[in-house]
Amino acid sequence: MMINPEQQRNLIEVTDLTVRFPTADGGIATVVEGLTFAVAPGEALGLVGESGSGKSMTSLAIMGLLPPNAQVTGSIKLFGSGHGDGVELVGRGDRAMRRIRGDRVAMIFQDPLSSLNPYYTVGDQVAEAYRAHRGGSAQAAKQAAIAAMEQVHLRDPARTYHHYPHQFSGGMRQRIMIAMALVCEPELLIADEPTTALDVTVQSQVLELIKEVRATTGTSLLFITHDLAVVSRVTDRVLVLRHGVEQELRTTRELFSDPQADYTRMLIDATPRLHDLDEAGESR
Ligand SMILES: Nc1ncnc2c1ncn2[C@@H]1O[C@H](COP(=O)(O)OP(=O)(O)OP(=O)(O)O)[C@@H](O)[C@H]1O
Ligand SMILES: [Mg+2]
Repeated sequence: MMINPEQQRNLIEVTDLTVRFPTADGGIATVVEGLTFAVAPGEALGLVGESGSGKSMTSLAIMGLLPPNAQVTGSIKLFGSGHGDGVELVGRGDRAMRRIRGDRVAMIFQDPLSSLNPYYTVGDQVAEAYRAHRGGSAQAAKQAAIAAMEQVHLRDPARTYHHYPHQFSGGMRQRIMIAMALVCEPELLIADEPTTALDVTVQSQVLELIKEVRATTGTSLLFITHDLAVVSRVTDRVLVLRHGVEQELRTTRELFSDPQADYTRMLIDATPRLHDLDEAGESR
């Protein structure tokens, strides 16, 4: 699905986002510098760049989860029905961010095991994600959790609801994380290297699931990866980042057929699986 962001109100608009940290020697390190981009409703934007380029800092800024010593300037506006001119997320207090996080904007992290509590059943954790925002009875939360677990194709959710994280494989745990992210039907799903820790076959299955979820829920997606092969499979547009600075921002198709930045060309040349991908790109 291609959406021209000019024609339709964006879901989120990031303008001149800059993230800095004080350094040990009394200086300042700028890790994200003047980033401007938007994501339209239903659109998937990829954020690509090598390790340390500022991808996670950008997503954490949107989630309001940057370390407390981070200095953030610029604007991150979240639009949506009933929100008029949009909600400014930069400088928003923790309590207000907690209402948005997990509800309107949800995130999937690279390592599901560190995000799941080993002492609670996976079902209860998905149900709690629902209850935190929607309230309601324990029974309603359980039903919502089971529905979300079905949505990510976990087998026999009524039974596996009662299992603990260690009883699942890495791929299944990532499905549980996706269920937890989806249970409140977020408008924006942020996935930060969601498949990097998985082997290639499982990675492919999780990518297919993310594509399916997008198609069925209409959620917008901010997909973060260092892997161009992965980004070509799931995104409509790509923002290439280097040292916290945008190198280019184009449709995924254009990025691969006609890269503008030298840095993008270097990334493409360094991605061995890209030939398979051209075909994947064609079938998109
Ligand atoms: N708490 C912190 N204080 C100071 N600098 C930090 C802090 N956390 C991260 N950084 C720096 O911010 C820069 C961007 O980090 P970020 O985690 O966004 O990179 P990334 O693109 O997500 O990389 P990766 O692909 O390895 O996940 C890096 O240079 C990192 O060293
Ligand atoms: Mg990162």
